Amino acid sequence: MQLLEHRLQGGKDLQEIIMSNIVTEIENEIKGLKLKAQKENVGTVTEVGDGIARIEGLSDVQASELVEFESGVTGLALNLESYNVGAVIFGDNTSVKQGDSVKTTGKILQVPVGDAIIGRVVNALGEPIDGKGKIASSVNYPVEKIAPGVITRQSVSVPLQTGIKSIDALIPIGRGQRELIIGDRNTGKTTIAIDTIINQKDVICIYVAIGQKTSKIAQIVAKLESVGAMKHTIVVAATAADPAPMQYIAPYAGTAIGEYFLDQGKDALIIYDDLSKHANAYRQMSLLLRRPSGREAYPGDVFYLHSRLLERSARLNSEYGGGSLTALPVIETQAGDISAYIPTNVISITDGQIFLETDLFFQGIRPAVNVGTSVSRVGGSAQTKAMKSVAGRLKLDLAQFRALAAFAQFSSDLDPETRNQIERGKRITEALKQPPFSPVPLAEQVATLWAVTNGHMDEIDVTKIQEFVAHFLSHLKIKYKKVMDEVADKKIIEDSSLKALEEAVAEALKTFKPGSESFKKSEAAQKVEKTEYSVSTKKDNKAKGKKK
Ligand SMILES: Nc1ncnc2c1ncn2[C@@H]1O[C@H](COP(=O)(O)OP(=O)(O)OP(=O)(O)O)[C@@H](O)[C@H]1O
Ligand SMILES: [Mg+2]
Repeated sequence: MQLLEHRLQGGKDLQEIIMSNIVTEIENEIKGLKLKAQKENVGTVTEVGDGIARIEGLSDVQASELVEFESGVTGLALNLESYNVGAVIFGDNTSVKQGDSVKTTGKILQVPVGDAIIGRVVNALGEPIDGKGKIASSVNYPVEKIAPGVITRQSVSVPLQTGIKSIDALIPIGRGQRELIIGDRNTGKTTIAIDTIINQKDVICIYVAIGQKTSKIAQIVAKLESVGAMKHTIVVAATAADPAPMQYIAPYAGTAIGEYFLDQGKDALIIYDDLSKHANAYRQMSLLLRRPSGREAYPGDVFYLHSRLLERSARLNSEYGGGSLTALPVIETQAGDISAYIPTNVISITDGQIFLETDLFFQGIRPAVNVGTSVSRVGGSAQTKAMKSVAGRLKLDLAQFRALAAFAQFSSDLDPETRNQIERGKRITEALKQPPFSPVPLAEQVATLWAVTNGHMDEIDVTKIQEFVAHFLSHLKIKYKKVMDEVADKKIIEDSSLKALEEAVAEALKTFKPGSESFKKSEAAQKVEKTEYSVSTKKDNKAKGKKK
């Protein structure tokens, strides 16, 4: 080629031509070069331990900026002091050593969001931990974001059905609401949250596990998978074994994932299980960062920690897409003490609370919801008409029952009216019981509560109420399916449906034979007996399969 040119140009020196070519090439390169000045601020680790690094020389770092350590591990600059910066380390903190260099990145913490993340289990940084490979998502959302303003919001009016009779009837939750689940250890808090996830059809659920045992999280994921609820669920897990910064960031990461769906105009539900452990992680982190401690050794901004998190749940108005993010934070109390620092904080931030009590749990009243002290401040306007028509009576009956319950032991000396009220109350309490992981559809809830509050179960022995409910519902499902579908669709009880219900309950009472084998064998009865998580690992399943 060059020889050919050489000939064409009439014998110019070959070397000269090559040189000129190189020069023009270099010239072109220089012309095309776009130089951008980039300032990189590099500092040195002076102290490291317990997941916290102290860095000198990072004079230009911003608060909550991501920093990168020499080993590639990232951290978050939290304390900006005169001579040094305190940063928390995400991931393997043993790889960070004294004397290592650290550089600023100019970025704030983000997590991948989008539809691709549905059905996955991720850590607090949005990285998959379920062994199902990479998450194909091109959108990232910042972990911390300012909550939607007043102008963009609208009030709660669409129900979020939990499938739990006592909650849907007495403490209704609306989409966009924040309802606290609070109670001592082992009172069924997580079960309520999981039941609610299982009951959702068009709502995307995010379960944020904070400071829980890995085995417990694995059980929950297995349960959700076995009932097909993982299809609309994302699990964000920061286990007890994860460093405190990961536990601290997990709920914010989960919320960012939820906000993506909120922005898409969809309905999402987020569960923070639990915020007591979150506050503990924050306390640990803050003390290590040498922030001054206040009440119960929590740092002064622990209220802001939770309020800025829960404020991000909202129902947007139609101008802003009409999406919603409902939050169910969980708080664990010690010996029922709701006046401790963290419980009072979160109670004041949320729109109501579901109180679970150990006493009720051990009396066999499960879910152990204390319907007297639990409230939902805004959910009433989101309750369906069908449910409203039975809930009013239910509330009244239960309130009277509570007032009279103290006299229950003297029942023989009581006047008939009081005795009837006590008997009715007992039956209602019985009808509200429900085994774990079996949410009840709206129409069935309405039919059950209608029957019991209207005295149709007064003649049945208290111990046989659950059996009768099962019998009544199966009768309805077989013979009155149309009526049930109508209640489910229209969400009101029409006069014709009411008539049908009356017929159905009369028939069910006639055909009811307590102690029938079919009930004992039924799933419902077995679930009542078996209170443990009925989740088994894959190995167990295989073993069972072999036995069969
Ligand atoms: N409605 C129910 N009926 C029967 N058993 C239940 C019911 N709800 C929960 N349980 C059982 O009670 C136990 C504790 O439930 P769960 O783990 O939900 O409680 P928790 O308050 O979240 O506990 P922790 O404080 O450990 O987080 C479980 O074994 C569960 O199966
Ligand atoms: Mg729990």
